[in-house]
Amino acid sequence: MKTTLHLLGAITATLCIATFFSATLFVELFGSPETIATVKKLIVMPGLLILIPAIAMTGATGFSLGKNRKGRLVEAKKKRMPIIGANGVLVLLPAAIFLDQWAAVGAYDLKFYVVQGLELIAGAVNLTLMGMNIRDGLKMTGEISPHKSGIRHEWR
Ligand code: HEM
Repeated sequence: MKTTLHLLGAITATLCIATFFSATLFVELFGSPETIATVKKLIVMPGLLILIPAIAMTGATGFSLGKNRKGRLVEAKKKRMPIIGANGVLVLLPAAIFLDQWAAVGAYDLKFYVVQGLELIAGAVNLTLMGMNIRDGLKMTGEISPHKSGIRHEWR
């Protein structure tokens, strides 16, 4: 049950960040100012409303699942989670809110693009770290073999 909730949260959160990231890139490159504003609005609502509980659930169930586990994979996942959380709370969350407000009034100025750049960087970092957590999680549940990636030691 806990593992199912963890998996569900992990997939939802990762898909959210991947969608926000690619939709942002797409409209920044090809969209009108109005489409950019629409995407920025959707990222805040309902986007954040889905992402925040999903990431909280992933972290909470993850730490609970990992409480009695030892090993390199679980330790690496534990270390990545605070970075993912800090990136989310300190960069992605405020950036999404400010970008939405600025786009709503057509304020596409230097600060918009600086914050937009920071948001894309933080998004890419979180996607990478979450991808690594998915890989290591699947190794721990045996869904993917640790040997295929060259790891020959005890992994659990
Ligand atoms: C955004 C962060 C995270 C993502 C994307 C993620 C992803 C995953 C995935 C995909 C699985 C495999 C589930 C399955 O095959 O059913 C998994 C398993 C697992 N995760 Fe995470 N995880 C995250 C954070 C954490 C954290 C912070 C911990 C704490 C150490 C953790 C501990 C575990 C454990 C122990 C398992 C194995 C559960 C079992 O063998 O039953 N995860 N994770």
